[in-house]
Amino acid sequence: MAEITNQAAFQLPGVLYGGDYNPEQWTEDVWQEDVRLMQAAGVNCVSLGIFSWAKIEPQQGQYNFAWLDRVIDLLHTHGIRILLATATASPPPWFSHLHPESLPVDKHGLRYKPGSRQHYCPNNAAYRHAASALVTKIALRYGAHPAILMWHVNNEYACHIYECYCDTCRDHFRAWLQERYATIDALNESWGTAFWSQQYDQWEEIQLPHRTTTFVNPGQMLDYRRFMNASILSLFRGEIEAIRAAGAQQPMFTNMVFGLKWLDQYEWACYADYTAIDMYPDPSLGDQAWSSIAFAYDAIRSAKGNKPFLLLEQATTQVNWRAINQLKPPGMMRALSYQAIAHGADSVMFFQWRQSKAGAEKFHSGMIPLGGAADSRIFAEVSQLGAELKRLTDVVGSRVQTQVGLLFSYENVWALEIDSKPAQIDAMSAILPWHAALAQQNIPVDIVHPNSDFAGYRVLVAPLLYQMTESHAEKLRQFVREGGTLIVTYFSGITDARDHIWTGGYPALLHDVLGIKVEEWQPLLPDEVVEIIDQTGQRTQGQHWVDLLHPVTVEVLAHYNGGFFDQRAAITRNRFGSGQAYYVGTRPGAAYLHDFFCRICTEQSIHSLIDAGVGVEVSMRSGGANQYLFVINHTGTSQSVTLHGQKGIDLICEATIADQFSLEPYGVRIIRLPL
Ligand code: GLA
Ligand code: ZN
Repeated sequence: MAEITNQAAFQLPGVLYGGDYNPEQWTEDVWQEDVRLMQAAGVNCVSLGIFSWAKIEPQQGQYNFAWLDRVIDLLHTHGIRILLATATASPPPWFSHLHPESLPVDKHGLRYKPGSRQHYCPNNAAYRHAASALVTKIALRYGAHPAILMWHVNNEYACHIYECYCDTCRDHFRAWLQERYATIDALNESWGTAFWSQQYDQWEEIQLPHRTTTFVNPGQMLDYRRFMNASILSLFRGEIEAIRAAGAQQPMFTNMVFGLKWLDQYEWACYADYTAIDMYPDPSLGDQAWSSIAFAYDAIRSAKGNKPFLLLEQATTQVNWRAINQLKPPGMMRALSYQAIAHGADSVMFFQWRQSKAGAEKFHSGMIPLGGAADSRIFAEVSQLGAELKRLTDVVGSRVQTQVGLLFSYENVWALEIDSKPAQIDAMSAILPWHAALAQQNIPVDIVHPNSDFAGYRVLVAPLLYQMTESHAEKLRQFVREGGTLIVTYFSGITDARDHIWTGGYPALLHDVLGIKVEEWQPLLPDEVVEIIDQTGQRTQGQHWVDLLHPVTVEVLAHYNGGFFDQRAAITRNRFGSGQAYYVGTRPGAAYLHDFFCRICTEQSIHSLIDAGVGVEVSMRSGGANQYLFVINHTGTSQSVTLHGQKGIDLICEATIADQFSLEPYGVRIIRLPL
């Protein structure tokens, strides 16, 4: 028997490289070819058994592990480590047949049928029980197997079912509310039920926010989002407990979906040993996509205090679930893989190892295409990357360091997107441009939860931080007072955690810090723009929103030009304590925002890591005695790059890199610099 991994001493055996492995879709002779090709491609680990429940437990309580024993041993003898899945992501038909009440219910009260995947209500006791029994069996059987590197818990929680409206969820919601509020009066106060005659007398009167005649109570909606996040999180925690109770010690993670806003990944990160993300950008977006991918990576990294995360899934080229699924042109997959590492990933993994020949994802690319590995572009690119990643072992465990934080929370996204607002808001498309303006000039950014520690940041940006508690405001006040630079945008500091407006002029909790008071706002039409002119005469077009603000103690940096708000302040700066706080009442054009952040960062001695053309991304990781500068060309054309005096060796080609060089289309340099 091998030793059980000691978590404190746990180390990855290098950059993890591999993919989801679904051997149950193939005969055993194919497994032999699989391990041979894995070795040829430099694969050092696979995620195994993610959708194997029906094969492992074909009937309730009857387990068939013989095939899995053989797969695990085969991988082990070929030196391939395993992220062993708990196999709970898709309950088998016998389960749904025995427990029809386990199927989730939609907002209209319609129960889903089985026949796809993730068809379980997160609060269903039979599902929890069956999942826990399965996980226990798997962990008991394989917990001490030397091939098992980590546990892959479930799969993409909430990717399809992020809400359920069944009677069980209703009962659990009532219990959750009782726990949260203790008395019905407290709930009434929090939900503002004095409005529209919604006052509750008994807990039993409370419903889920089903389809209603018009707007549902916003407090109820916000609590329902919290409740669903907590319900699904308790599934994750339940599986972790089952694995640990069975004595297995390896680290655990669950793979989160990029862009999925229904789970609070900051809270989830507390329970996972590693955070993990799946990333499927649309290749047709070309070089327009990389900065939003950067946001997702910055967020998943920040969620666990900057510990390296895992890139668990991406496509080698095409997916099958968009209306039109384009290929990744040659080189793009490699560049995007390095992008993940540049932002702090210690793995590059794919869905899936071998493309399926049947089922709903047979047109989804894999590491081995259906045409076979030989002569295939995909397998050639996969093998090249596998060989290169072996040279990056020293990068594993190194950290991304930043001085700029962008304040972000999922609660804020949920609160922003509840209906009945001045305008319907798509939170991510409103927040992303503020990150992009920094990322696109290669200023590294953390995506900071407002509850977390602000120490170490010199600049904090709060885009549409609609929900603000007294403690958030106090932390921001202290940050500025002690010398920090804060940038707050429109529609920030509006409500408390109950979604009640802070009265006294927006954003009421930060009047002293910002030196302004917003009285009204004008949400703009989709194509509407408003001109802004700044002190230097520079002009830009404001989009999305116009705040009508009263400057109190501020310097007005820019004003609106035209409209009934002509000449009113658009951008202001207030000195507060030893710091300064900017307020931006609209969304300036991208070029202006770029320059605006550039000026602020330069003042704070924060500079772009290098000079390069648009579409060249740069990031830095530091660890041990070295720093690693990642330079990635996300465009299909050559780009020139000028280093800021950084002299070092490229980890891939092992040559010294000149101060100025031309980076080929989708080219990558990883330059090791002494600290
Ligand atoms: C998700 C899932 C995988 C697979 C891929 C396809 O990320 O986790 O099982 O369905 O999507 O892109
Ligand atoms: Zn339910």
